[in-house]
Order: sequence, then structure tokens, then C-alpha cells
Amino acid sequence: MAAELDRELYEAACRARKDSYSPYSHFAVGAAVRAMDGRIFTGCNIENASYGLSLCAERCAIFAGVKEGVRAFTALCVTADTSEPVSPCGACRQVMAEFAIPRIFLTNLRGAWKEMTGAELLPYSFKL
Ligand code: THU
Repeated sequence: MAAELDRELYEAACRARKDSYSPYSHFAVGAAVRAMDGRIFTGCNIENASYGLSLCAERCAIFAGVKEGVRAFTALCVTADTSEPVSPCGACRQVMAEFAIPRIFLTNLRGAWKEMTGAELLPYSFKL
């Protein structure tokens, strides 16, 4: 477990959060993933009047990278305006497991953070 936050990734997640489209929950989330080659891809949550169609920030960021051909990520950072570092939902944990992202930074806007592994977030994840 590394002791340092990827600050550039954190700042990218904070910036991406500003694009959140969350008129229903009013809970804005930002995320950023770092590809093996160093590139950063970002995402925000995007809600819908048909609530179940809403997309979380983490999956938005991961899919932005995958859509550009990236398959190997070194880290993901998620942020929200919470008192504790925000905890990813189950669906996003499963998508993180798909791409075996080794370092996952849970953060908040106050700068609190914790690093977790994919296995800590989703032990015994579904795999084909
Ligand atoms: N949300 C995320 O973007 N990421 C998470 O890990 C948890 C939840 C979003 C979905 C929805 O737009 C809002 O937060 C409230 O659930």
C-alpha cells in the first residue's frame, strides 16, 4: 500500500466533479483514472429522469479510457463532498475488478483520502 496520494489524479477528479449532472440527487461525484502510459481520463456522475439509467463517475472515467483503447490502468481516484472519503458503489467495484486497477484512492473535497485495493473493496468478485 503506497503512502502517497496521486495529487494530479486527485485534482483531475475534483475538476471533473464540476461537470456532474446530478439534478435528482444533488450529489456530485468526480473520478479520474491513470492509464499505464500516464494519461489521465476523467468522469462525473450523469443522472437521468429514469433514475436507473444514471451513470456513476467511476464508470464514466473508466469507460472514457477504454473507449480510447486503454486496457491497463494504474490508479483510480474518486471524490465527493462527503465527511469521510467517498466509498464506491457495488457496480463500480465490479467494473474496477474487471480492469484490475491496483490502486484506488477514495477522497473527499477536504483532502481526506484512503487507498484501497480492488480485493479489499470487492473480495471474491465475479469473473468469467
Ligand atoms: N455515485 C457515483 O457517481 N459514484 C459512486 O460510487 C456512488 C454514487 C452517484 C450516482 C448518483 O448520481 C449519485 O451519486 C447519488 O447516488
